[in-house]
Amino acid sequence: MNDQANPPAAKKLFIKTYGCQMNVYDSQRMAEAMATEGYVLTDDQADADMVLLNTCHIREKAAEKLYSDLGRLKPLKAERPDLKIGVAGCVAQAEGEEIVRRMPLVDLVVGPQTYHRLPAMVRGEAPAILTDFPSEDKFDHLPQNRATRRAPAAFLTVQEGCDKFCAFCVVPYTRGAEVSRPVDRILREARDLVDRGVREITLLGQNVNGWHGAGSDGTWGFGRLIRALAGIEGLDRIRYTTSHPNDMSDDLIAAHRDVPQLMPYLHLPVQSGSDRILKAMNRKHTAAGYLRLIDRIREARPDILLTSDFIVGFPGETDADHRDTMRLVAEVGFGTAFSFKYSPRPGTPAYERPEVDSHVADERLQELQALLTKQQKAAQEGMVGRTLGVLFEKPGRQAGQMIGKSDYLHSVFVDAPRAQVGDLVTVRIVESATNSLHGELAA
Ligand code: 5AD
Ligand code: SF4
Repeated sequence: MNDQANPPAAKKLFIKTYGCQMNVYDSQRMAEAMATEGYVLTDDQADADMVLLNTCHIREKAAEKLYSDLGRLKPLKAERPDLKIGVAGCVAQAEGEEIVRRMPLVDLVVGPQTYHRLPAMVRGEAPAILTDFPSEDKFDHLPQNRATRRAPAAFLTVQEGCDKFCAFCVVPYTRGAEVSRPVDRILREARDLVDRGVREITLLGQNVNGWHGAGSDGTWGFGRLIRALAGIEGLDRIRYTTSHPNDMSDDLIAAHRDVPQLMPYLHLPVQSGSDRILKAMNRKHTAAGYLRLIDRIREARPDILLTSDFIVGFPGETDADHRDTMRLVAEVGFGTAFSFKYSPRPGTPAYERPEVDSHVADERLQELQALLTKQQKAAQEGMVGRTLGVLFEKPGRQAGQMIGKSDYLHSVFVDAPRAQVGDLVTVRIVESATNSLHGELAA
C-alpha cells in the first residue's frame, strides 16, 4: 500500500464508428486522447459517461443513421442528464451547428481535423462545436498511436483529404485538401506499433497512393515510403487503402514486384466502366486506361487480388453505360468489390443533375452484385489447395480455433490449439465458405 489517495473511478467512453477504415483509426486515436482525461473504453452504451458517434457522410443513408441513433439516445440522456454526447467525423464536419439545432441533446461536435482538441472540449476549455481546418497538424497534438487493443494488425493514417473532386463525392469537402504526413512521423509511428507487437500495418488515406511526403532529402513518393517501411524489422505485412488509378506510379507498381512484405492485394476503385460516365464523374481516366493499368500491375505481381468500388445509377447512366461496366468487371475478375447505388450529396457537382429512375438503378445494382458475388466465390475457391500466410487476429468460437487474415485478406479459420494471437503461420486452404476460408496448419 502506498499513501496516495485512490485515483477516482475511471469514466467510461462508448464510441460507435460508422463508415470507412479512416474512421476506425480516428476512433482509436480519439480513445487515446480521452484516456489522458481518465476515460476508458466500454462496449456498453448504457453504462457510458460519454457516448461519441464517429460518423460517415459518404451516402445519404450513412448520414441519416446518425439522426436515428441520436433519437434512440434520448431516453438515456433523460435518465442521466450528465451523460455527454459527442458527434465526430464527416457528418460533424458537414453539418456542424445544424446537428445541435436538430438534436439539442448533443453536447459536442468535432470534425475530423480537430479531434485532438476533444479533451479540451470535454473540459469546457474549447468551443463545443469545432469544425475548422486548423493549420496545425492534429497528429502533433495527439498521444502516441498505442493500437489500444494490441491487435497484431493496425492502421496508420499517412494521408488525408482529397483534391480529385469526383462529381459525386463529399470527401474533398468533409476531409479537406490533400495533406501528406512527413516521412519521419510515419516511420516513427510504424516502429512504435511494431515495438508493441504489431506485425501488419495498413497505410490509410482517402487517396493514399497520392501520398508525397517530406523526407530528409526532399519529397518522397509512396513507393519509396513502402520500401522504407519494409526495412523495419518485425513488420511482416504492409497494405494500403484506398487508391486512385491515376496515382499508381511506376515505382509503386514496381514495389508490388520487389517488396515481399507488400501484400498481393490492391483496392483500386474504378466506379464505372463507361467512358461517358467516367467523364461525367470527373474521374479523369478511361475504362481502357484502367484495364491497361491492371495489366501492368498484374505483370509486376501476377497473383495480386484486385478489388474495387462501383457506383450504379449515376446521373445520365444508360443501359449501354451499364453494359460497359458489366464488361469491365467481366474482363478484370475482381476478388471482391463494393457496389453502391448513386446517392445525391448536397454540395457536390452532381447533386442537381437529373437522377436515373430508382427501380432501374436497383436492377442494375442487383445485376452487378450478382456478377461480383460470383467472382468473389471463384477467387475464394481458387485459394483451395494453396498454401498461404495467415496472421492470427483472434480466437474462433470453437475450442482451439483461430481466425486470421490470409495474404489476400480473406478471413481464414484454422484449428491451431497451441497458437496465439499474433502468430504468422503457413496454412493450407482446404475449403471455401460464404465469406471465409478454412485451412490446416502446414508442416
Ligand atoms: N453515392 C454512392 N456511392 C458513393 N461513393 C462515394 N460517394 C458516393 C455517392 N454520392 C462510393 C464510391 C467510393 C466509395 C468509398 O463510396 O464508390 O469509392
Ligand atoms: Fe472521393 Fe474521388 Fe477523392 Fe475518392 S478520389 S475521395 S471518390 S473525390
